[in-house]
Amino acid sequence: MTGTRALVVVLVAAAAIATTVWTYTARGALHEDLPPAFASRTNPRLDDPAAAAAGAAIFQSNCASCHGDRADGHGIAAVGLTPPPANFRGTDVLARHSDPYLFYRITEGKPGTAMPSFHGALAENERWAVISYLRSLAPDVAHR
Ligand code: HEC
Repeated sequence: MTGTRALVVVLVAAAAIATTVWTYTARGALHEDLPPAFASRTNPRLDDPAAAAAGAAIFQSNCASCHGDRADGHGIAAVGLTPPPANFRGTDVLARHSDPYLFYRITEGKPGTAMPSFHGALAENERWAVISYLRSLAPDVAHR
């Protein structure tokens, strides 16, 4: 009896560990698989109140055509894109992703999608300002 109980405890513990490892690996591979050079980056404009405002203007000129004036993914150039541009007003994209991941995508683009690289078009501090702007947005479930 004691042996059976111990076995059950071991099996339950093993299942819990396996689930944790699987969840962690799946999330990491799906969403945050970024090069080490980007992984350690932090937003130097996090505490700069002017950054979000500057980022809003940069977003309107460079991103709104696809991601929409409201950043909800419904830009005029979004029609027919597969996958569609990310919706930054939804409850998942910004919640799931770290700042270094956003910086990596804006810098390098996203292969297999229409997301272009802004490495040459925007300076680093402009890319961070856009991230400050995105972080200032409230999720808007009415505009998914
Ligand atoms: C030509 C259209 C287009 C333009 C312009 C564009 N994007 Fe994108 N963007 C996309 C598409 C399409 C995706 C892919 C969405 C996905 O993977 O589900 C994307 C993805 C992203 C992602 C990654 C989201 C994720 O879940 O991996 C970020 C961050 C992003 N865009 C930010 C920006 C910013 C900031 C700008 C302007 C500086 C911009 N984009 C300009 C089309 C565009």
